[in-house]
Amino acid sequence: MAFDPRQIMKAFPILESGTGKNTLHYLDNAATAQVPNAVINAMVAHDAGRRANVKRGIHRLAESATAAYENARESVARFIGVQNPAEIIFTSGTTHGINLLAHSLGNTLKPGDEILLSPVEHHSNLVPWQMLQDRFGIHINFLPMDDNGLIDTGSITEYITPRTRIVSLSHGSNVTGALTDTAALGDAVHEHGAVLILDGAQVIPHGPVDLPALKADFYVFSGHKAYGPSGIGVLWGRMEQLEKVSPVFSGGEMIGDVKLLTSTYAEIPHRFEAGTPPITQAVGLGAALDWLHRLDQPGLNRHLMTLTTQVINGLQHLSVESNAIRIIHPAMDTGRLPIISFIVRGIHPHDVCQFLSDRYDIALRGGFHCAQPLHEQLGLPEGSTRVSLAAFNTQEDVDILLEGIAECMRILL
Ligand SMILES: Cc1ncc(COP(=O)(O)O)c(C=O)c1O
Repeated sequence: MAFDPRQIMKAFPILESGTGKNTLHYLDNAATAQVPNAVINAMVAHDAGRRANVKRGIHRLAESATAAYENARESVARFIGVQNPAEIIFTSGTTHGINLLAHSLGNTLKPGDEILLSPVEHHSNLVPWQMLQDRFGIHINFLPMDDNGLIDTGSITEYITPRTRIVSLSHGSNVTGALTDTAALGDAVHEHGAVLILDGAQVIPHGPVDLPALKADFYVFSGHKAYGPSGIGVLWGRMEQLEKVSPVFSGGEMIGDVKLLTSTYAEIPHRFEAGTPPITQAVGLGAALDWLHRLDQPGLNRHLMTLTTQVINGLQHLSVESNAIRIIHPAMDTGRLPIISFIVRGIHPHDVCQFLSDRYDIALRGGFHCAQPLHEQLGLPEGSTRVSLAAFNTQEDVDILLEGIAECMRILL
């Protein structure tokens, strides 16, 4: 069936579609997307009919809860093109996944070893690595970026050295919406014996990904940005890499045999999921990715790129006379996500967001979006205003957004 955002809207109770009460224009999906009924219903059905702890109980509910949890793992594997569901580790989100890797891989680093990042990264792909600097005497280097905030991955051979152990980059920026060109990365990283981590937090919400083709070793993302619940995320790793990673969290469920002074660990992925996992959330994430997978992907992509173009053209039009608006990375001809950040010169991003929320019930994000170094390098010390689109957004959302920004400029400039 052709992609129809009006139909999609009806699946999201928070939008109150079809009741005539809909005033919300939710354009903050890169922070957290809304959840469709399919996800809410799956979680309610789980807690109402199957709630029990997983893996440990030998009773009917425990067995069906365990099956639901493992089915969710299979849904994730299908969505990211991975054959072996054991390569999927449930985390609490992208931040947890990167921290797990930073702590575990960090323990193997020696003084003088190097980590390669970029200035585009979300704080969750900067701070965990910064914390290793003093502890292990390692150095952090950065791939360059251009004036639009695009990572110059083509220059990797100039920046990677025999001491580089880890390269960790965003797969898509939560500020510029730029997709990272990964073509040159995998081979260069592996030739140097390093590992490649990709942060897919902003990419996964926009459709299935063929992870093996990316030649990454690890990939992380969050459920709440992909129409799923909060408190759940995924760390995928190639099995041969996961086998080299030591668990960071320990306790129940991650063990094989426990003696008073020593223990063996469970098989992968369970050795990385200590304690009771977020079971209901995993079920919700599985339902979210299955829901997203069922959508008409080319239609969804066309819809989001049409709205993205309209936002960019509309902002450029509003700026024709005054030159008041600067869009970060307005290009449509390079791969991009439906995320558009901009500034209105003379109005603080927080004021733009407040104005649009108060008068139009538009939800945007204003500030650094957890990417302060990127904003500072782009000469944006107050951050930016971000519009981020999802499947349920419509032409009407864009029209009202542009009307609201025009009004904001008339009143506040
Ligand atoms: C690119 C990117 N990486 C990492 C994160 C962190 O995600 P979470 O807060 O769900 O752990 C975000 C969230 O905004 C993001 O956009």
